[in-house]
Amino acid sequence: MRAWAIANQKGGVGKTTTSLCLARGLATTGHRVLLLDLDPHASLTRAFEVPSDPPPAGTHDLFNNSNSTLLELARYTQIPDLQLVAAQPALATLERRGASQPGLGLALGRALHGVRELYDYVLMDCPPTLGLLMVNALAAADRLVVPTQTDPLALHGLSDMLRTAEMVERSRRRPLPRHVLPTLFDRRTRSGVQSLDLLQDRYGDRVWPHAVPMDTRLRDAASLTRAEPPDGRGVDAYRRALKWLMTHEPDGNDVTHKREAA
Ligand SMILES: Nc1ncnc2c1ncn2[C@@H]1O[C@H](COP(=O)(O)OP(=O)(O)O)[C@@H](O)[C@H]1O
Ligand SMILES: [Mg+2]
Repeated sequence: MRAWAIANQKGGVGKTTTSLCLARGLATTGHRVLLLDLDPHASLTRAFEVPSDPPPAGTHDLFNNSNSTLLELARYTQIPDLQLVAAQPALATLERRGASQPGLGLALGRALHGVRELYDYVLMDCPPTLGLLMVNALAAADRLVVPTQTDPLALHGLSDMLRTAEMVERSRRRPLPRHVLPTLFDRRTRSGVQSLDLLQDRYGDRVWPHAVPMDTRLRDAASLTRAEPPDGRGVDAYRRALKWLMTHEPDGNDVTHKREAA
Protein backbone atom coordinates (compact mmCIF):
# COMPACT_ATOMS: atom_id res chain seq x y z
CA MET A 1 0.00 0.00 0.00
CA ARG A 2 1.11 3.53 -0.74
CA ALA A 3 -0.35 6.49 1.09
CA TRP A 4 -0.48 9.87 -0.62
CA ALA A 5 -1.39 13.05 1.22
CA ILE A 6 -3.03 15.62 -1.06
CA ALA A 7 -2.42 18.83 0.85
CA ASN A 8 -1.89 22.55 0.67
CA GLN A 9 -2.35 25.05 3.47
CA LYS A 10 -4.36 27.19 1.10
CA GLY A 11 -8.04 26.54 0.30
CA GLY A 12 -9.57 26.45 -3.16
CA VAL A 13 -6.43 25.25 -4.96
CA GLY A 14 -7.91 21.98 -6.21
CA LYS A 15 -7.05 19.51 -3.42
CA THR A 16 -10.43 17.79 -3.46
CA THR A 17 -10.67 17.74 -7.25
CA THR A 18 -7.14 16.34 -7.42
CA SER A 19 -7.86 13.66 -4.79
CA LEU A 20 -10.96 12.62 -6.68
CA CYS A 21 -9.40 12.56 -10.15
CA LEU A 22 -6.23 10.75 -9.08
CA ALA A 23 -8.18 8.21 -7.00
CA ARG A 24 -10.56 7.60 -9.86
CA GLY A 25 -7.65 7.21 -12.28
CA LEU A 26 -5.92 4.70 -10.01
CA ALA A 27 -9.10 2.68 -9.45
CA THR A 28 -9.91 2.48 -13.15
CA THR A 29 -6.41 1.23 -13.97
CA GLY A 30 -6.57 -1.81 -11.76
CA HIS A 31 -5.70 -0.57 -8.28
CA ARG A 32 -7.66 -0.96 -5.06
CA VAL A 33 -8.06 2.56 -3.75
CA LEU A 34 -9.26 4.10 -0.49
CA LEU A 35 -10.03 7.80 -0.29
CA LEU A 36 -10.03 9.50 3.11
CA ASP A 37 -11.90 12.77 3.55
CA LEU A 38 -10.04 14.61 6.31
CA ASP A 39 -11.59 18.01 5.69
CA PRO A 40 -14.38 19.10 8.07
CA HIS A 41 -15.94 20.91 5.10
CA ALA A 42 -16.52 17.45 3.62
CA SER A 43 -16.54 18.49 -0.06
CA LEU A 44 -15.33 15.06 -1.10
CA THR A 45 -17.99 13.33 0.98
CA ARG A 46 -20.65 15.57 -0.56
CA ALA A 47 -19.38 14.83 -4.06
CA PHE A 48 -20.09 11.17 -3.35
CA GLU A 49 -23.55 12.16 -2.13
CA VAL A 50 -23.13 10.51 1.27
CA PRO A 51 -26.19 11.52 3.34
CA SER A 52 -25.24 13.94 6.12
CA ASP A 53 -28.22 13.48 8.42
CA PRO A 54 -27.49 11.70 10.65
CA PRO A 55 -23.74 12.27 10.24
CA PRO A 56 -22.14 9.24 8.62
CA ALA A 57 -19.47 7.11 10.25
CA GLY A 58 -16.12 8.38 9.03
CA THR A 59 -12.65 9.71 9.63
CA HIS A 60 -13.54 11.34 12.95
CA ASP A 61 -14.15 7.86 14.37
CA LEU A 62 -10.44 7.15 14.02
CA PHE A 63 -9.75 9.80 16.66
CA ASN A 64 -12.39 9.07 19.28
CA ASN A 65 -12.38 5.99 21.43
CA SER A 66 -14.66 3.96 19.22
CA ASN A 67 -11.89 1.57 18.11
CA SER A 68 -13.28 1.70 14.59
CA THR A 69 -11.01 0.38 11.87
CA LEU A 70 -10.64 1.88 8.41
CA LEU A 71 -12.13 -1.26 6.96
CA GLU A 72 -15.29 -0.82 9.03
CA LEU A 73 -15.55 2.84 8.06
CA ALA A 74 -14.93 2.43 4.32
CA ARG A 75 -17.98 2.56 2.09
CA TYR A 76 -18.36 1.42 -1.49
CA THR A 77 -18.79 4.03 -4.20
CA GLN A 78 -20.21 3.78 -7.70
CA ILE A 79 -16.68 3.39 -9.01
CA PRO A 80 -15.48 -0.19 -8.72
CA ASP A 81 -12.35 -0.59 -6.58
CA LEU A 82 -12.75 2.88 -5.08
CA GLN A 83 -13.89 3.15 -1.46
CA LEU A 84 -14.40 6.23 0.67
CA VAL A 85 -14.15 7.06 4.35
CA ALA A 86 -16.46 10.05 4.81
CA ALA A 87 -15.76 13.26 6.71
CA GLN A 88 -17.90 14.23 9.68
CA PRO A 89 -18.55 17.79 10.91
CA ALA A 90 -17.08 16.77 14.29
CA LEU A 91 -13.63 16.80 12.63
CA ALA A 92 -13.65 20.56 13.14
CA THR A 93 -13.53 20.13 16.92
CA LEU A 94 -10.54 17.80 16.72
CA GLU A 95 -8.09 20.53 15.85
CA ARG A 96 -8.78 22.22 19.19
CA ARG A 97 -8.67 19.07 21.29
CA GLY A 98 -5.72 17.55 19.51
CA ALA A 99 -2.74 19.31 20.98
CA SER A 100 -3.57 18.27 24.52
CA GLN A 101 -3.95 14.57 23.81
CA PRO A 102 -0.70 12.70 23.43
CA GLY A 103 -0.52 10.06 20.73
CA LEU A 104 -3.34 11.55 18.66
CA GLY A 105 -0.84 12.72 16.03
CA LEU A 106 -0.22 9.13 14.97
CA ALA A 107 -3.79 7.84 14.98
CA LEU A 108 -4.07 7.83 11.21
CA GLY A 109 -0.76 6.06 10.71
CA ARG A 110 -1.89 3.31 13.07
CA ALA A 111 -5.22 2.98 11.25
CA LEU A 112 -3.47 2.73 7.88
CA HIS A 113 -1.23 0.01 9.17
CA GLY A 114 -4.31 -2.18 9.62
CA VAL A 115 -5.25 -2.02 5.92
CA ARG A 116 -1.81 -2.30 4.30
CA GLU A 117 -2.74 -5.52 2.54
CA LEU A 118 -6.23 -4.45 1.51
CA TYR A 119 -5.54 -1.43 -0.67
CA ASP A 120 -2.91 -0.50 -3.21
CA TYR A 121 -3.34 3.23 -2.65
CA VAL A 122 -4.78 5.40 0.09
CA LEU A 123 -5.32 9.04 -0.87
CA MET A 124 -5.93 11.58 1.90
CA ASP A 125 -7.80 14.78 1.03
CA CYS A 126 -6.48 17.21 3.66
CA PRO A 127 -8.03 20.34 5.17
CA PRO A 128 -6.42 23.70 4.32
CA THR A 129 -5.24 24.27 7.88
CA LEU A 130 -2.10 23.23 9.63
CA GLY A 131 -3.56 21.27 12.50
CA LEU A 132 -3.92 17.81 13.90
CA LEU A 133 -5.52 16.34 10.78
CA MET A 134 -2.90 17.58 8.38
CA VAL A 135 -0.08 16.57 10.70
CA ASN A 136 -1.60 13.09 10.97
CA ALA A 137 -1.78 12.80 7.19
CA LEU A 138 1.78 14.02 6.68
CA ALA A 139 3.09 11.74 9.41
CA ALA A 140 1.43 8.73 7.77
CA ALA A 141 2.07 9.53 4.10
CA ASP A 142 4.60 7.93 1.78
CA ARG A 143 4.44 10.99 -0.42
CA LEU A 144 2.94 14.44 -0.50
CA VAL A 145 1.20 15.84 -3.57
CA VAL A 146 0.63 19.60 -3.40
CA PRO A 147 -1.96 20.96 -5.84
CA THR A 148 -1.01 24.58 -6.43
CA GLN A 149 -3.14 27.12 -8.17
CA THR A 150 -1.16 28.89 -10.88
CA ASP A 151 -1.54 32.38 -9.50
CA PRO A 152 1.00 34.54 -7.70
CA LEU A 153 -0.71 34.45 -4.29
CA ALA A 154 -0.97 30.68 -4.29
CA LEU A 155 2.81 30.38 -4.57
CA HIS A 156 3.12 31.68 -0.99
CA GLY A 157 0.78 28.94 0.17
CA LEU A 158 3.04 26.42 -1.54
CA SER A 159 6.19 27.52 0.27
CA ASP A 160 4.33 27.39 3.62
CA MET A 161 3.22 23.88 2.79
CA LEU A 162 6.70 22.71 1.82
CA ARG A 163 8.11 24.17 5.05
CA THR A 164 5.51 22.24 7.04
CA ALA A 165 6.42 19.07 5.15
CA GLU A 166 10.07 19.56 6.07
CA MET A 167 9.17 20.01 9.71
CA VAL A 168 7.13 16.80 9.77
CA GLU A 169 9.86 15.00 7.88
CA ARG A 170 12.38 15.95 10.55
CA SER A 171 10.19 14.75 13.38
CA ARG A 172 9.21 11.45 11.77
CA ARG A 173 12.79 10.72 10.64
CA ARG A 174 11.67 9.30 7.30
CA PRO A 175 11.78 11.14 3.99
CA LEU A 176 8.52 12.68 2.83
CA PRO A 177 8.93 13.05 -0.94
CA ARG A 178 6.84 15.85 -2.36
CA HIS A 179 5.57 16.80 -5.77
CA VAL A 180 3.74 19.87 -6.96
CA LEU A 181 0.77 19.74 -9.32
CA PRO A 182 -0.06 23.06 -10.98
CA THR A 183 -3.85 23.47 -11.16
CA LEU A 184 -6.53 25.90 -12.30
CA PHE A 185 -4.25 27.08 -15.08
CA ASP A 186 -5.54 29.79 -17.37
CA ARG A 187 -3.10 30.17 -20.24
CA ARG A 188 -4.84 33.32 -21.44
CA THR A 189 -3.68 35.29 -18.42
CA ARG A 190 -0.18 36.63 -17.99
CA SER A 191 -0.19 35.91 -14.27
CA GLY A 192 -1.10 32.27 -14.96
CA VAL A 193 1.75 31.78 -17.42
CA GLN A 194 4.22 33.62 -15.20
CA SER A 195 3.23 31.63 -12.13
CA LEU A 196 3.70 28.35 -13.97
CA ASP A 197 7.15 29.45 -15.19
CA LEU A 198 8.07 30.50 -11.69
CA LEU A 199 6.93 27.20 -10.21
CA GLN A 200 9.03 25.24 -12.66
CA ASP A 201 11.99 27.47 -12.20
CA ARG A 202 11.87 27.35 -8.43
CA TYR A 203 11.01 23.72 -7.83
CA GLY A 204 12.38 22.03 -10.97
CA ASP A 205 11.85 18.28 -11.10
CA ARG A 206 9.42 18.31 -8.25
CA VAL A 207 6.78 19.99 -10.40
CA TRP A 208 4.67 18.15 -12.93
CA PRO A 209 5.89 19.84 -16.12
CA HIS A 210 2.34 20.64 -17.29
CA ALA A 211 -0.75 22.07 -15.61
CA VAL A 212 -4.38 21.14 -15.09
CA PRO A 213 -6.30 23.72 -17.11
CA MET A 214 -9.41 25.58 -15.99
CA ASP A 215 -12.24 23.37 -17.13
CA THR A 216 -15.81 24.05 -16.07
CA ARG A 217 -16.55 20.33 -16.33
CA LEU A 218 -14.37 19.84 -13.23
CA ARG A 219 -16.66 22.18 -11.28
CA ASP A 220 -19.28 19.49 -10.95
CA ALA A 221 -17.48 17.20 -8.51
CA ALA A 222 -20.47 14.86 -8.31
CA SER A 223 -20.06 14.00 -12.00
CA LEU A 224 -16.58 12.71 -11.18
CA THR A 225 -17.96 10.18 -8.70
CA ARG A 226 -20.31 8.41 -11.11
CA ALA A 227 -19.58 5.10 -12.75
CA GLU A 228 -19.49 6.46 -16.30
CA PRO A 229 -16.13 7.98 -17.19
CA PRO A 230 -16.11 11.80 -17.25
CA ASP A 231 -14.37 13.57 -20.09
CA GLY A 232 -12.84 16.91 -20.92
CA ARG A 233 -9.47 18.62 -20.89
CA GLY A 234 -9.30 18.73 -17.12
CA VAL A 235 -9.90 15.03 -16.67
CA ASP A 236 -7.38 14.27 -19.43
CA ALA A 237 -4.78 16.42 -17.71
CA TYR A 238 -5.28 14.54 -14.44
CA ARG A 239 -4.85 11.28 -16.31
CA ARG A 240 -1.47 12.49 -17.57
CA ALA A 241 -0.51 13.87 -14.18
CA LEU A 242 -1.23 10.50 -12.59
CA LYS A 243 0.95 8.74 -15.13
CA TRP A 244 3.78 11.15 -14.31
CA LEU A 245 3.32 10.70 -10.56
CA MET A 246 3.47 6.95 -10.97
CA THR A 247 6.68 7.09 -12.96
CA HIS A 248 8.06 9.30 -10.19
CA GLU A 249 7.12 7.00 -7.33
CA PRO A 250 9.37 7.92 -4.44
CA ASP A 251 10.59 4.39 -3.82
CA GLY A 252 11.61 3.97 -7.44
CA ASN A 253 12.74 7.35 -8.58
CA ASP A 254 13.08 10.04 -6.00
CA VAL A 255 13.50 13.57 -7.21
CA THR A 256 16.05 16.05 -6.10
CA HIS A 257 15.28 18.90 -3.76
CA LYS A 258 17.09 21.36 -5.92
CA ARG A 259 16.49 25.09 -5.82
CA GLU A 260 14.32 24.72 -2.74
CA ALA A 261 16.00 27.68 -1.11
CA ALA A 262 15.37 30.00 -4.06
N1 LIG B 1 -9.18 22.70 -13.14
C1 LIG B 1 -10.31 23.26 -12.68
N2 LIG B 1 -11.11 24.00 -13.51
C2 LIG B 1 -12.23 24.58 -13.06
N3 LIG B 1 -12.67 24.49 -11.79
C3 LIG B 1 -11.92 23.79 -10.93
C4 LIG B 1 -10.72 23.12 -11.31
N4 LIG B 1 -10.19 22.51 -10.22
C5 LIG B 1 -11.04 22.77 -9.21
N5 LIG B 1 -12.08 23.52 -9.61
C6 LIG B 1 -13.16 24.08 -8.80
O1 LIG B 1 -12.56 25.05 -7.93
C7 LIG B 1 -13.12 24.97 -6.62
C8 LIG B 1 -12.02 24.62 -5.61
O2 LIG B 1 -11.53 23.32 -5.92
P1 LIG B 1 -11.36 22.20 -4.79
O3 LIG B 1 -10.85 20.98 -5.46
O4 LIG B 1 -12.59 22.08 -3.97
O5 LIG B 1 -10.20 22.89 -3.94
P2 LIG B 1 -9.74 22.64 -2.42
O6 LIG B 1 -10.08 21.24 -2.07
O7 LIG B 1 -8.28 22.92 -2.44
O8 LIG B 1 -10.48 23.64 -1.59
C9 LIG B 1 -14.22 23.92 -6.69
O9 LIG B 1 -15.42 24.58 -6.96
C10 LIG B 1 -13.80 23.07 -7.88
O10 LIG B 1 -14.90 22.43 -8.48
MG1 LIG C 1 -11.19 20.47 -0.45
